[in-house]
Amino acid sequence: MKTLEIRLSQKKYSISIEKGILGKIGEEIGKIYQNKKIAIITDSNVEELYGKKLIDSLSKNNFKTKTIVIEPGEKSKSLETAKCIYEGLLDFEITRSDMVLAFGGGVVGDIGGFVASTLLRGIQFIQIPTSLLAQIDSSVGGKVAVNLPQGKNLVGSFYHPEAVFIDPELLRTLDKRFLYDGLAEVIKYGCIKDRELFDRLMEIEGQEELFDSMEEIILNCCSIKRDVVERDERDRGERLLLNFGHTLGHAIEKYFEYNKYTHGEAVAIGMYNFTKKSEEMGITEKGATRLIKEIILKYNLPYKMPDIDRDSIIKAIRLDKKNESDNLSIVLLREIGDSFIKKINKDHIDLYLV
Ligand SMILES: NC(=O)c1ccc[n+]([C@@H]2O[C@H](COP(=O)([O-])OP(=O)(O)OC[C@H]3O[C@@H](n4cnc5c(N)ncnc54)[C@H](O)[C@@H]3O)[C@@H](O)[C@H]2O)c1
Repeated sequence: MKTLEIRLSQKKYSISIEKGILGKIGEEIGKIYQNKKIAIITDSNVEELYGKKLIDSLSKNNFKTKTIVIEPGEKSKSLETAKCIYEGLLDFEITRSDMVLAFGGGVVGDIGGFVASTLLRGIQFIQIPTSLLAQIDSSVGGKVAVNLPQGKNLVGSFYHPEAVFIDPELLRTLDKRFLYDGLAEVIKYGCIKDRELFDRLMEIEGQEELFDSMEEIILNCCSIKRDVVERDERDRGERLLLNFGHTLGHAIEKYFEYNKYTHGEAVAIGMYNFTKKSEEMGITEKGATRLIKEIILKYNLPYKMPDIDRDSIIKAIRLDKKNESDNLSIVLLREIGDSFIKKINKDHIDLYLV
């Protein structure tokens, strides 16, 4: 098993990564949690595939469980669903000394963590992320949230789990589009901080080699995010580096009302197009754009800017919730594996678009 320790100002916990860890999860949870009640929050896809395996292992270790199943997909990340989960947890007579277990992709992790952070002013929770995006990104860093009709992740907080358990084997059942979606974020980690990871992704040949390397890849990504989060828990400085490709990506996703591109696809377009422009401006080393295009295509992601009028994109970027009043921070590469944050006036974003 590979383990990463997360050390934050108020809290310490570990991320454990191992193929097949789900089969002995009861034993693992027993090492960090002595009470017996566990409320599982999951979605119907994950429940159908892995619910029994999870419950069997927890029951074998004498845990008393209740499973609350939500509909899969982003629509479930709402206050309405949160209310249903609160009700389910109260029916189970959950107390602050019990445990919530978020078992699913980023949607389940975000809403499960949000509910755990708010019900009874905070119930401890554990994350078992099951999608690649959740295993390398959303389960690390403590951001929990739900969406509002006005926008994504508008209600939330920072609330860290007691532990994260990652089983890379679960990714074998993930729909390919979601696998590539997560790989866009893996590519991002390589671009901003880890040339070796980038090169490794370039070398991998075929699905089996990818799955064979998955434990290592997840460990690399989590450890990059861990380092950044430890230095900037509240997303006010270095953590913005994780936004590489996202300024444009978010604007594209939003423009198409989250229907045309997955998050990872939009981020891939963002990474390529921002780098193309910054290479032309002499900020990024020559050849980086070509490499990014190659890796994006290798993992079945798009790179071409869709046909959107420039004013709409600029408007969407200016409205991004990470902006300050007059400024916005963009992330650029010096070279693959080395990135920096550049604060620019909102009126100058035009210069950085192809
Ligand atoms: N908190 C953070 O820091 C953070 C970071 C990045 C993204 N996010 C959030 O994460 C969410 C997206 O996460 P996601 O892409 O995991 O979406 P998701 O949770 O909707 O999962 C994607 C799909 O895969 C299915 N699935 C999950 N695991 C599976 C498995 N092992 N086998 C088969 N199917 C499986 C799910 O049922 C779902 O249909 C967004 O809401 C985003 O805002 C949060």
